[in-house]
Amino acid sequence: MQAATSIRRYCRFFRHKGATKVLDYGAGKLRNALFLADEGFTVIAADLPQQIRKIRACPAIRHLAGVMATDRLPDSELNVDLVLSTYVFNIIMENNEQERYLSNIRQNLRPGGYLLIEVRCRKQSGACGEGCSEFFKCPDCAKTYSHEELDQLLVPYGFRRVSHYYCNQAVAAIYQLEQGQAGVAG
Ligand SMILES: C[S@@+](CC[C@H](N)C(=O)[O-])C[C@H]1O[C@@H](n2cnc3c(N)ncnc32)[C@H](O)[C@@H]1O
Repeated sequence: MQAATSIRRYCRFFRHKGATKVLDYGAGKLRNALFLADEGFTVIAADLPQQIRKIRACPAIRHLAGVMATDRLPDSELNVDLVLSTYVFNIIMENNEQERYLSNIRQNLRPGGYLLIEVRCRKQSGACGEGCSEFFKCPDCAKTYSHEELDQLLVPYGFRRVSHYYCNQAVAAIYQLEQGQAGVAG
């Protein structure tokens, strides 16, 4: 399983910025977490409790610094240098869950730290039925965003976009959390 293109593309950037400690938020099958662990980063994988149960059964987690369920994040202060969010935000449908997700990122990222967020950008309309578990493979299940829309969501949390690119119906963007920020949201 190959790591997301955005992770491979920005890996050198993060190293250059002195990032060492990483939270992969919505780690899925660990393709990005294991890639960065292999590159020498200290990686914590977080996901929903049901996915964490599957992750814990995976022998490769010995390469990770930790594995945690997302319900622990509001009370954690991991102080990581980098949060990864690839193809997660676009499958969170409810606004309050999106807000919780962004608050948890801010809560666990150090001031001046980075967020790499990658989401689908293809315009789709319609809503999928309850119980669909296809995530972003399902054309009706995933939300889509432009980099401007991501800005609107993230700026209130104290993030500033430093880079982005579009590729294969996805947009990937790097944001930096302001030093000593006190965002209005969350
Ligand atoms: C499409 S997979 C992407 C996995 C991985 N980031 C990747 O790029 O391979 C989406 C993942 O997000 C997780 N997820 C869904 N809702 C979430 C939430 N509210 N908070 C954290 N993770 C969530 C799912 O359990 C799943 O593992």
